[in-house]
Amino acid sequence: MLHIAIVNGPNLNLLGTREPQIYGNQTFDHYLVQLKERFPLVQLHCYQSNVEGELINYLHGCMGARHGIILNAGAYTHTSIALADAISSIGVPVVEVHISNVLAREDFRKTSFIASKCVGSISGLGMEGYALAIQYFTTKTLTPKHP
Ligand code: DQA
Repeated sequence: MLHIAIVNGPNLNLLGTREPQIYGNQTFDHYLVQLKERFPLVQLHCYQSNVEGELINYLHGCMGARHGIILNAGAYTHTSIALADAISSIGVPVVEVHISNVLAREDFRKTSFIASKCVGSISGLGMEGYALAIQYFTTKTLTPKHP
């Protein structure tokens, strides 16, 4: 079975009530129920923290334990070299996800310290970005590797 971690950073525990005009009005827990129904063969492991070091510790814990990580680092995306280093260090592929289109917002959101350490980024497709990232990992795992 495919084990995928979904890691949400600061303020994403407030999805559903936080700036609904940007992030929608669905809680992550509500969306997670749908995700589990859509991907019954994938074991999803969810973690959220508002604390940078806790996110780093969780990523370290994914070493050798998860096939892939979906990371919405929230505002730490734009500030955290430590998170970028953690992604480089763990040897687990990470897909960066943002609910909003960060390139269409304030200039400071256009910088991602983590993007270059990730296998790819999904931004601006709402909560569906998490599902698309899971889809990527399922396809990648099932596709034979070419030399
Ligand atoms: C976000 C975008 C970030 O710029 C912001 O700080 C967030 C959420 C998103 O999912 O769109 O907290 O990562």
